[in-house]
Amino acid sequence: MAFNNAGIQVPPSDAADEPIEQFDRVVAVNQRGVWSCMKHELRVMREQGSGAIVNCSSLGGLVGLPQRAAYHGTKHAVLGMTKSAGVEYAPRGIRINAVCPGTIDTPMVADMLQGQSDAMAEIMKQQSIGRLGHPEEVAAAVLWLCSPAASFVIGIGLPVDGGFTAH
Ligand SMILES: NC(=O)c1ccc[n+]([C@@H]2O[C@H](COP(=O)([O-])OP(=O)(O)OC[C@H]3O[C@@H](n4cnc5c(N)ncnc54)[C@H](O)[C@@H]3O)[C@@H](O)[C@H]2O)c1
Repeated sequence: MAFNNAGIQVPPSDAADEPIEQFDRVVAVNQRGVWSCMKHELRVMREQGSGAIVNCSSLGGLVGLPQRAAYHGTKHAVLGMTKSAGVEYAPRGIRINAVCPGTIDTPMVADMLQGQSDAMAEIMKQQSIGRLGHPEEVAAAVLWLCSPAASFVIGIGLPVDGGFTAH
């Protein structure tokens, strides 16, 4: 099994003003990075005829938000790659899925919220559960998707978001 989790956030930007370097950087890590990891994992898994891959998308792969076009674009792309490779490899005994975390208490979010006192209140308006998620709560979903308990689950983007996308 493999979990392709590495990703970066970039500062929010008016879509008309976003620097091309920022766009290229977030695409390189979040989209090309997942593509590249999956490619090499699949070379091993197709030889062994089994495996499970989980890619890390985001609530940003399911909805749009102002000033987030580049990041959300990469997370939508993760779901596109998950679905396409998922249907391609299902007949070969390999399951590919994704998780779509809401706002989780990690260093990425601490950086994002630094100096933005209103930002947390704004996030909590949409994250119905009223708190940040814990990394362990995402890990539990990833482990389930990797396990035989999810043997009939292919190509999904599973929200783990405290109700954000249920709005
Ligand atoms: N924290 C959240 O609220 C949240 C919400 C939705 C999705 N996500 C996604 O979850 C994943 C993990 O995020 P996190 O919150 O733990 O962030 P984080 O910044 O705390 O950790 C990200 C990790 O990715 C690694 N990484 C970054 N660029 C890399 C590269 N080029 N090569 C190898 N490793 C690299 C970093 O070293 C770090 O260990 C990311 O894909 C992120 O987009 C996070």
